Amino acid sequence: MKITVINGTEVRGCTYKIKEAFLDSLRAGNTITEFYLPKDLPHFCCGCKSCFLIGEAHCPHSAFVLPIWESLLNADLLVFTSPVYALRTTGQMKSLLDHLCVRWMVHRPDDRMFKKRAVILTDAIGVFNGGAQKDIQTSLRWLGVSDVKRLGIGLLEGVYWKDLSPKRRDQIVKKARRLARRYRSFRPGRKGIKVRFLFAATRAMHQMLAPKEKTLSVDNRYWLEKGWIKL
Ligand SMILES: Cc1cc2nc3c(=O)[nH]c(=O)nc-3n(C[C@H](O)[C@H](O)[C@H](O)COP(=O)(O)O)c2cc1C
Repeated sequence: MKITVINGTEVRGCTYKIKEAFLDSLRAGNTITEFYLPKDLPHFCCGCKSCFLIGEAHCPHSAFVLPIWESLLNADLLVFTSPVYALRTTGQMKSLLDHLCVRWMVHRPDDRMFKKRAVILTDAIGVFNGGAQKDIQTSLRWLGVSDVKRLGIGLLEGVYWKDLSPKRRDQIVKKARRLARRYRSFRPGRKGIKVRFLFAATRAMHQMLAPKEKTLSVDNRYWLEKGWIKL
């Protein structure tokens, strides 16, 4: 199985420890590729819209974005990790998600994403992990991934791993390892009802717009080439 991990922080702290505990039992026999943000994508989306209107190779940050996207496409399991910052995911994770908008259902979805399984690992000093997880899950859904499991850890005892009691650390590690058990063997993800609906709705939109366009947009050409719409 191929696993791609997107680390939403470069800090080798609590998020890192949780991710390592999750990957522990998955290392043997699997290929794991990891990206660390912002190191592996040190730019915000600049809003040029070249990806939408000309093609993603024209993104000024394509040298960073395309290898990450290719790795996600080639993986069977996608792992996203993030500490909670201001109740949401980190800015650097959001920056990657912004760069992937061109592959949202409404633009140029890749059907390989429909079969992926994904895991979101987050941690916060408090208990509110939902906002950060939702940031990532919303993007995953629009990218076509339905099979998403989330693990949110409330650290509670401190923000540094060394400050957590051995009992708390043990509880956290056990939770991450328990979740990993589900992914020991390969199984393709199922395309859920929400993704099916988004695809059907966006297909209807493209089908309606394409015949009216004088020059086909890059998005509509893509849908046509895929055989998802007809002229
Ligand atoms: C800028 C910043 C904002 C934070 N915002 C929150 C927050 O809104 N809620 C919360 O519970 N913890 C918050 N925290 C605490 C982090 O979630 C916590 O430090 C992190 O989970 C530790 O993981 P790390 O060691 O991988 O950085 C924040 C931390 C930072 C640095």
